[in-house]
Amino acid sequence: MAVLVTGALGQLGGELCRRLGREAVGVDVLAGTDAAGAAASLHVGAENRPFQLQRLDLTNRRQVLETIRRVRPAALINCAAYTAVDQAEKEPERAEAVNATAVSNLAEVCAEVDCPLIQISTDYVFGGQSLGRPWREDDQPEPQCVYAATKLRGEQAAAQWTKHIIVRTCGLYARPSDARAKNFVRTILRFARHGRTLQVVNDQHCTPSYVPHVAEAVLFLAGLGDRGLPAPWGIYHVTNRGQTTWYDFAVEIVRLAGLDVPVAPITSAEYGALARRPSYSVLDTSRYHAVGGPQMPDWQTALGEYFSQQSDFASS
Ligand SMILES: NC(=O)c1ccc[n+]([C@@H]2O[C@H](COP(=O)([O-])OP(=O)(O)OC[C@H]3O[C@@H](n4cnc5c(N)ncnc54)[C@H](OP(=O)(O)O)[C@@H]3O)[C@@H](O)[C@H]2O)c1
Repeated sequence: MAVLVTGALGQLGGELCRRLGREAVGVDVLAGTDAAGAAASLHVGAENRPFQLQRLDLTNRRQVLETIRRVRPAALINCAAYTAVDQAEKEPERAEAVNATAVSNLAEVCAEVDCPLIQISTDYVFGGQSLGRPWREDDQPEPQCVYAATKLRGEQAAAQWTKHIIVRTCGLYARPSDARAKNFVRTILRFARHGRTLQVVNDQHCTPSYVPHVAEAVLFLAGLGDRGLPAPWGIYHVTNRGQTTWYDFAVEIVRLAGLDVPVAPITSAEYGALARRPSYSVLDTSRYHAVGGPQMPDWQTALGEYFSQQSDFASS
C-alpha cells in the first residue's frame, strides 16, 4: 500500500517522497508546471528515488475525497501548506482554506478509509508569554499571526480523527540540492553573495531544523522507519537540538560559506514584517525522544551537514 504525501514539491514533502521512492504517491497543486517536468526537477542528489507525482489541489474537496478513496493509502503525510507567513496577513481566506479547511476534509476521508493522518505543523502556534523553558506539546498555543492561527486550526481538524500524529517543527531548510526550496539559508546565501550587508532579527529565539533530519523523524513517528509501528497518536515536537536567533544563525551560515559579509543584528520592530512572529518558540522534543525517535543533531551540526553536502555553493 502506498503512502500519500501532500506538498510533494515542497521542502519536506519532496524529501519524504524521495526517501519513500516507489512507496510514495506524491501530490501537489503543481501550479504553472506539468507533472512530468516537476517530477524530473525533483529527482536531485544521491538520495533520490523516483516516485509517483500527481496533481491535487487540497482546497478542492471533491478531488481530495476521490483521490484518497482511490489510493486508499497506508498513511497520509500532509506537508502541503500555505507557508507564506507575511502574505497570509493579506490572504487569510486562502491560508485558512489550505491550512485548516483542507485538513478537516483530509481527517474526514482518512477516518472513512481508516488511514493514519500525519499532519505537519509549526512552532509558530506558540507566541504568548514565554514560560522560560522550551514549549511542551500540552502547553497552551497562542498564535500571533494569521498563518499560525490557521495552522492551529489545522491541528485541531487533524485531531478530529483518532489516528493522527501532529508534528510541530521549526525553521525548515532543505538539502542544498533541492533547487526549488525557499528557506532562510538560501536567502542569506543569496544576499551575502551579492555583497549586501545583512540585517537580521536578533530577538526571535527558535531552532532552525534541517529537512533530512525532520523527515527521518516523521517517518519514524509514522511507523515507516525501521521500527515499523506508528508512535502513540498525538502531538510531537521535532526540531534539531539547541536554540539560536535568526541573527546568530545567519552569522554561522556566512561563516560556513566562507563569505566576508557584515551581519548586523536588528529587532523585529526594526525589521517590520507584516506578520508577528513569536519571540520565543523553542520546542521541547522530550516526548519524541521518549518514544525512541532517532537522535536529532544540534542545529550547528545540522548546518555543517548542509554545507558538507553543498558541492556547488554558487547554485544555492
Ligand atoms: N518552512 C518552514 O520553515 C516551516 C517551519 C515550521 C513548520 N513548517 C510546516 O512544515 C510543513 C512543510 O513545510 P515546507 O517548508 O516543506 O513547505 P513548502 O516548501 O512551502 O511546501 C508546501 C507545498 O504545498 C503546496 N501547496 C500549497 N497549497 C496547496 C494546495 N492548495 N494543494 C496542494 N498543495 C499545495 C505548495 O505548492 P506552491 O508552492 O505551488 O504553493 C508547496 O509545494 C508545512 O506544514 C509547514 O507549515 C514549515
